[in-house]
Amino acid sequence: MTSQSNDPATHRISTSGDVEVSTYLEIAEGKEGLRPAAQETPSGKGEAVVVIDFGSQYSRLIARRIRECNVYCEIVPPSVSWEQVAPLNPRGVILSGGPASVYDPNAPMAPAWLYESGLPILGICYGLQVLAHQLGGKVVPGNMREYGHASLHQNDATSPLFADLPSSMTVWMSHGDQVQELPPGFRSLAHTDNSPIAVMGNDNGVLGLQFHPEVVHTPDGKKIIENFLYHVCQCQGTWTPTNFVDESVARIQAQVGNGKVICALSGGVDSTVTAALIHRAIGDQLTCIFVNNGLLRQGEAEQVIDTVERNLKMKLVYVDATEDFLTRLAAVVDPEQKRRAIGEEFIRVFEKQAEQLGQVDFLAQGTLYPDVIESQSSDGNASATIKTHHNVGGLPENMTLSLVEPLRYLFKDEVREAGLALDLPEEMVYRQPFPGPGLAIRIIGEVTWEKLEVLRACDWIVMDEIQQANLYNELWQSFAVLTDTRTVGVMGDFRTYGYMVAIRAVTSEDAMTADWARLPYDVLAKISNRIVNEVSEVNRVVYDITSKPPGTIEWE
Ligand code: XMP
Repeated sequence: MTSQSNDPATHRISTSGDVEVSTYLEIAEGKEGLRPAAQETPSGKGEAVVVIDFGSQYSRLIARRIRECNVYCEIVPPSVSWEQVAPLNPRGVILSGGPASVYDPNAPMAPAWLYESGLPILGICYGLQVLAHQLGGKVVPGNMREYGHASLHQNDATSPLFADLPSSMTVWMSHGDQVQELPPGFRSLAHTDNSPIAVMGNDNGVLGLQFHPEVVHTPDGKKIIENFLYHVCQCQGTWTPTNFVDESVARIQAQVGNGKVICALSGGVDSTVTAALIHRAIGDQLTCIFVNNGLLRQGEAEQVIDTVERNLKMKLVYVDATEDFLTRLAAVVDPEQKRRAIGEEFIRVFEKQAEQLGQVDFLAQGTLYPDVIESQSSDGNASATIKTHHNVGGLPENMTLSLVEPLRYLFKDEVREAGLALDLPEEMVYRQPFPGPGLAIRIIGEVTWEKLEVLRACDWIVMDEIQQANLYNELWQSFAVLTDTRTVGVMGDFRTYGYMVAIRAVTSEDAMTADWARLPYDVLAKISNRIVNEVSEVNRVVYDITSKPPGTIEWE
């Protein structure tokens, strides 16, 4: 194994025993010996917009809307320096909303460089108030809080922000303070009943909106953002899946050179797209390792092998470690202990396989942009503590590897688009998420092979019926849970005493919150009938109608 500790892009992979299985291994970067990989941004040659995040719950949504307009963007804290953003080649800056009032003692403000840069600026809600405050206007508490829908009326139809938009439109407001006096050089471009200055702007492309264009409750909001990007910032819209794939291939080739890369595959979309992208860049210098932990769904291992070896023609090391995992899980009942046991076992098996490969230089990971944003430290310093989520696995303590994280700047929907651009099969690209600890966290109580087989059979029926009802892509996840409750039933003339199975189906955007899916009764009836008839150990089926919060998606 190589040692590259002088390389700034090198991570030392720790195998601490304290492993959370949801991520298998977390590295708190900034700890001794751990440093973030040097990252060239995906928009290296292109154009970008910077979102300065004042703590709005919608900042991520702003970023997604910008990306949907084919413009690359990154979310940065207000303390960001010009030197940090300059490599992005920014064409404009958006100031997000936020919970503060500009008169709060520690209210975050835009950095001074912003006003010297000459870049177009769009302030949203608190961002608008920051602009007004810093540029010499006056922000005051509104007569009443304005929350919800409002009718916006244009004062100036010539503003590029309003290109191809009606003179009045519905917008979504959520603010207390409002702009009372415009800064010098600004005029009011639109008003609502409660906000005489609902949109303001000057002749230098500095604009502010009192409402939120990024939320779906502002139906024309995306068009307003698009107008800012295309007509004010003069962006060209070069951020497309094909361009991303081409740029990434070149970047991976430059980073890896003749080195060898390993990637732990789970069969999920993130690790598969990561592997496919790297494979396109460096071919057989990549080896994928797929550990079958015995906790997979029916036919899943075969499907992963088929996709990876036959469709994608990647080098794959397949390890069936079912026995090891089940031995490790014997008598384990506590959910957290289960996760730890599975994580530790995974690392053990993965280490062993990785060692057998001889010299390896890089570890590929499917880290996504939400992980990166979440790991930015709360003091607002993006370059400080970074917690990298490792979905895949860990390596021996004495092994130092550089990370290859080609999806580090992508949102989940962009990963799927990249997958399609890489010609991955649609059924793989649109797969519902499946947790690393697999069916083990859907079996309440001890995990045994018999229970796994029961759950696999039930899970298969759920999936089959959901697919037949054309609901698969509408649901974030749909699956069965094997409870440890047994109930009395009657079949024919006989008393039965069998397991109770719960069905879980949820809709969600990002798994942070979720709602239970209103599945048609007919579909539920079919699932219930089939499970009780086809799986002899089960005699009762219930439907979980808990949202998240207060529930979680998985039962353990
Ligand atoms: P919860 O149950 O926390 O799940 O609402 C949120 C999302 O995360 C998935 N999940 C996991 N994924 N390892 C994973 O890779 C885990 O330990 C794990 N636990 C939950 C879950 O399936 C859902 O999509």
